[in-house]
Amino acid sequence: MGVKLGILGLGTVGTGTVQLLQDVVGRNPLLQEVEIYRVGVRSLAKIRDVELPADVLTTDLESIVNDPAVDIVVELIGGLEPARSLILQALKNGKHVVTANKAAIARFGAEIFTTANQAGVYVMLEAAVGGGIPVIQPLKQSLSVNRIHTITGIVNGTTNYILTRMQTEGSNFSDVLADAQKLGYAEADPTADVDGLDAADKIAILASLGFDGRINLEDVYCEGIRQVSKTDITYAEKLGFVIKLLAIAKQYTPSSPLSVRVHPTLVAKAHPLASINGVYNAILVEGEPIGQVMFFGPGAGAGATASAVTSDILNLVAVLKTSTTNPNPLLTCGHQDYCEIAPITELVTRFYARFLTKDQPGVIGKLGTCFGNYGVSLESVVQTGFQEGLAEIVVVTHDVREGDFRQALTEIQNLEAIDSIPSLLRVL
Ligand code: HSE
Repeated sequence: MGVKLGILGLGTVGTGTVQLLQDVVGRNPLLQEVEIYRVGVRSLAKIRDVELPADVLTTDLESIVNDPAVDIVVELIGGLEPARSLILQALKNGKHVVTANKAAIARFGAEIFTTANQAGVYVMLEAAVGGGIPVIQPLKQSLSVNRIHTITGIVNGTTNYILTRMQTEGSNFSDVLADAQKLGYAEADPTADVDGLDAADKIAILASLGFDGRINLEDVYCEGIRQVSKTDITYAEKLGFVIKLLAIAKQYTPSSPLSVRVHPTLVAKAHPLASINGVYNAILVEGEPIGQVMFFGPGAGAGATASAVTSDILNLVAVLKTSTTNPNPLLTCGHQDYCEIAPITELVTRFYARFLTKDQPGVIGKLGTCFGNYGVSLESVVQTGFQEGLAEIVVVTHDVREGDFRQALTEIQNLEAIDSIPSLLRVL
């Protein structure tokens, strides 16, 4: 007997998934068991890139999650509602769920996984992070024998595309964003991408898997790339760095709170993440005893994301084909407790800061004194440029507690010679 899918949504990813499932020759033979039984769409009139029998399409999404014949619901509509309610209803009805919806999982994961566990079904989300890159199942299975200490990702293709173009063309953020919107690389409303919210959802999910606990999204520190200027990209380049929007989850010792954050970051050119350019994503996982493992690939796109969605479907087909009623602990989400997340002020990191100051004797000395008052040690200080009569001074610190660094900055801001501090970036 075939495994019946109810697919919710026939946009880019839904269409890619249907195409993949309609052309299974040469792919895993288990996919031949899958039947595209219902597909929920917003409009029946819309011209589609896939052919489906008329009785498969419906605009009644609730009827799909309530249909006793459906074995697996594949949620590809995205957004918070009605996705959340449809997922919950499907789970309560005993259906397994595959979803690409990082926003819903990052916010409602506790409710969704509790409901799934109660119903004895699985929620699969390979496509929610890193598009086509297999990273969720590796974290849940292959890497789960390691003690993970750091997950560092470039998990948003839009911002990586913008930063890469700013770097290679020497262009401004707003010019590249406008062009990226024209070319379809950025949304008309780019907020979720450029303000780091999409990356925050994704690192919350990765941290939850890597550190085996729930993550409260509100505890994830999030800074986007709007304030990254071409001046900083040029300075970073001179200092041996590129600027990337990184999503980082780190646990310094097995008992310490997690640091989970998204922010533009100076990355040394020799670091493996420095060469990830354009719309590509990469996730570097570090742990014991494995050391470093990096996953690289397309973070979005119809075919790539369909690959991830279909791999989840395949896993579930295998589950449905085996007779055991015991839940597979490598597919369930077992953790109940929330991870403790340290406030950003407790972060210990290096900083890059750019100051505009009066060009007069003793300014660098005063900066050094203020930093010294808060235990901030400087790795390098350069003064190369002038902007509208003001001297431009760029400082890179050694590791410092962020709270101490910010206190030093407050004191520096009050110095008569300081005009402004246009940029402040963390260094990996
Ligand atoms: N908006 C995302 C990105 C793609 O730019 O990477 C889907 O997760």
